[in-house]
Amino acid sequence: MEIVVLDDPRACGRAVADAVAEALARDTGPPVTLGLATGSSPLPAYTELVRRHRDEGLSFAGARAFLLDEYLGLPAGHPQSYREVIRRELTDHLDIDPAAVHAPDGTRADPEAAAADYERLLAASGPVDLQILGIGGNGHIGFNEPGSPFGSRTRVTTLTARTRADNARFFTRPADVPHRVLTQGLATITGARRIVLVATGESKRAAVAATVAGPVTTAVPATVLRDHPHCTLVLDRAAAGPDRAGLVAAGQVGTPGRGR
Ligand code: F6R
Repeated sequence: MEIVVLDDPRACGRAVADAVAEALARDTGPPVTLGLATGSSPLPAYTELVRRHRDEGLSFAGARAFLLDEYLGLPAGHPQSYREVIRRELTDHLDIDPAAVHAPDGTRADPEAAAADYERLLAASGPVDLQILGIGGNGHIGFNEPGSPFGSRTRVTTLTARTRADNARFFTRPADVPHRVLTQGLATITGARRIVLVATGESKRAAVAATVAGPVTTAVPATVLRDHPHCTLVLDRAAAGPDRAGLVAAGQVGTPGRGR
């Protein structure tokens, strides 16, 4: 696991954007497939990608994208549905074909069938070239909460009280945060060729430390990434914490894209 510590969230965003640009540069074979997280952590990266598209001609034409997760029970077009968030924050401002941007369908009457369909679609599309991840304060990735099996696939699951409280900032009232969600499983996520997890701010420090240096355990779902052959953690100083040396000892601190 490669660890990159940068000054602030904007620098982290540029590093994640570099990884996306690198993935897009592979111009042979099947379409480049990006895995997109929502939440606040990747927003500086998305801002930077929109800027590079606008100012530098970085093109997403021919690429396709898969979202990690989605709330259940929000009506289609709800401003906090992840499909809507990614459209508003990113894909509407790029030249990616909107039909090539996929999300688990949280509006289906049968969510289990929606999960199975999404897993099938992902499998049929081949591996994700670059998966962008955030991390929950409790170590979740996607919406795989503590206790999620490492072998899990896309499924319906339930948010912990902590994650609902953390995400309440996006909703009018805390009670409006859905309880149930669709999420890619941990085995689905780790099927990506390359993973870049971005974590910023002090509230992520404990989860980052556990991910890098704690025991590999389903109690901290992000520890599944320790076995991934090409995973980079992009941290700002606040998320890395004063014990940066501890992270250095446990992982490999370097610059983005420089080896594994
Ligand atoms: C969102 C997702 C979640 C978030 C995590 C951190 O698609 O998969 O795992 O990445 O909850 O959220 P933020 O970035 O808002 O702190």
